[in-house]
Formats: sequence, C-alpha cells, structure tokens
Amino acid sequence: MADLSTHFAGLKLKNPLVVGASPFSRNLELSRLLEDQGAAGIVMYSLFEEEVTNEQLATDHFLNVGTESQPEAQTYLVEPPVMEDKAERYMDQIRALKSALSIPVIASLNGFSKSGWVSLASRMEAAGADAVELNLYSVVTDPDVSSEQVVQGYLEMMRQVRSHTKLPLAIKISSHFKDLPRVLKLASETGVDGFVLFNRFLQPDIDIEKMTVNLKARLSTSDDLAQSIVWTAIVSPEIDKDIVVCSGVHTAQDVVKAVMAGGCAVTMVSELIKHGPRAVGKVLSDLNAWMDMHNYPDINSMRGAMARGRGEHSIAYERRNYMQALQSYNENLL
Ligand SMILES: Cc1cc2nc3c(=O)[nH]c(=O)nc-3n(C[C@H](O)[C@H](O)[C@H](O)COP(=O)(O)O)c2cc1C
Repeated sequence: MADLSTHFAGLKLKNPLVVGASPFSRNLELSRLLEDQGAAGIVMYSLFEEEVTNEQLATDHFLNVGTESQPEAQTYLVEPPVMEDKAERYMDQIRALKSALSIPVIASLNGFSKSGWVSLASRMEAAGADAVELNLYSVVTDPDVSSEQVVQGYLEMMRQVRSHTKLPLAIKISSHFKDLPRVLKLASETGVDGFVLFNRFLQPDIDIEKMTVNLKARLSTSDDLAQSIVWTAIVSPEIDKDIVVCSGVHTAQDVVKAVMAGGCAVTMVSELIKHGPRAVGKVLSDLNAWMDMHNYPDINSMRGAMARGRGEHSIAYERRNYMQALQSYNENLL
C-alpha cells in the first residue's frame, strides 16, 4: 500500500482526500461516516458575514481600498454589530465537530468587510478550528471598480487576517482573474498558507416560463476538473504554497491528475452528494491500487510530475499548443 500522507495549507493529512465546503459538516453523523470512510479532513459550510452582521452598517467593505491611504483608516477594525446567534451557532458547530472527529476541521469564512473577516476568523480560531478557508467570492457588478482594486482589497484583507490569527489560512479563489499567477504570488507574500483552486461561481439559470432565476447549485462532473488542473500545473512550480485542487474531482484518476499537476490534496463535494460517504472509501482504495500498479510509493513521488517545466509536455499548457488542439478534429472532418 502506498503512503498517501500529504498536507493542506501546512496541516498534516493522512491522505489527499478532503471533504469540501458543503452541508455535510452541518451533520455530525454524516461527518463521522465520512471520517470512517477515510476522509483526511473536512471543510465546513461557510459562515457568510451577511448572515451575522448588518451589511448596511459595515462601512469598511474590503473593496473600499482607498481608505488604506488615510491614517484614520486604521480605525476600521471596529467590531461590527453582530447578530450573535448565527455566529455563535457556527462556533458551536466547530466545537462539536472537533469533539466528534479526529481529522482536521477547517472552518470556512466568506466575508465582505475587513473587520468581519478579521473578527470572525479570530473567533473560529478561538473555537478550535484547525485552519480557516477564506472564500473569496465577490461578483463585482460596478463598472467603476477595477480588477486591481479588487485584488488590492483581497490582499489587504489577507494581511489583516494573517496578522490577527496564527491558524493555517487557505485561500479559496476563483479562476476569474486576468493575471492569476501574479495574484497568487502577491497573495503568497501576505503569509497565507495555501490556495484552493478553484471556487465555482454560482451560474444562475433563467426559467423562461416562470420568469424566475434558478439558483440551485449545479453539481460537477469530471469534465469540470480541467481548469483547476491546468492552472495548478502552471502555477505550482512558481508558488511555494500548498495547492488544493477543487471542482470536478470524482475518481481516483482525478486525484492522480491533481497531484501530478502539483496539487497536495483535493476537495470533493459533488461526488459525495451523488454517491454518499462511501465514495470516499472507493476513491481511496482505487487510488491505492492505481499507485501500487504504477509503482508510486507515496504522494510525493507523483506530485508535480506533470507540472509546467517538467518535461516535454510542459508546453502543452501554453499558447503554442492552442493551434494543435484546434486542429485535433481535422482528420475526422475533412
Ligand atoms: C450543495 C453545495 C453547498 C456548498 N456550500 C459551500 C459553502 O458553504 N462554502 C463554499 O466555499 N463552497 C460551497 N460549495 C462549493 C464546494 O465547496 C465546491 O467548491 C464545489 O462544489 C466544487 O467542487 P465539486 O466539484 O467537488 O463539487 C457548495 C457546493 C454545493 C454543491
């Protein structure tokens, strides 16, 4: 049996399979089942700042980057008024999961104000979380907000959270940045410990009969994995932080691709919703069998084998092979 041990944002993991942020962690019984099946860690459902504070009262939205240049802006770390119930219930759930499980429990935070990110992350640390995943999810609809403003806002938030908590911090980020390698490099310099590639934006659909917007989260398939894999392969050689591959991981082969691209671990949600906790056990036993058959003694010996800069396949991730890919159907069509 191969040694599957690895790490996630500096946390030691017994294998690379982590349950991604989802409702599973709301239920202790299900969480125990996932642990019994071999899950190496569990990311909790997100605590959304707007669930616990009044958005209107938060004058320090993290996209208000201009405030950093003014000395009085330092006062923005005032506690926003918190509706205690929801925040405290989340902290209680951290404590409950910690006492029910022996695997790492990673809290997940989705904030919108600097003070919210900082104060809620600190409370997650105090409640006993092993790490915090900061879920960067803002849909910028204002045409006067530039991408640089958004990036600077995120970086300032990471610096603030980093300076107020010692916990490992993982940044769950979307692929929608025009200069992703630079954003990840700058984010690494804030002292965060790892990246989760990628967050999927909600893709609302329009019901043309009912004239409504359907907000149901779409479950992924392995076809959704490509984007995370390509970018992990591109950025992993440049970034000295743990990368976790997220979105579209369903099989042991998907895990192998993620690790070969340079990922340390993966998160899985859709597969578990479709097939239940037993999917964890199946993927892990298939992974063991695949690694044995291909003579990989441990995760480290596979990691990065297909990353950019490692061998001839390297250029496949770059523009040069775009033309070749487009021509791949020519033989059948012409
Ligand atoms: C029902 C459901 C609930 C989710 N809840 C959260 C959440 O609270 N926080 C979060 O960051 N991501 C959440 N996600 C996104 C997942 O963590 C994950 O990023 C996404 O499903 C892609 O991974 P997958 O292909 O393994 O499903 C949720 C996804 C689903 C399907």
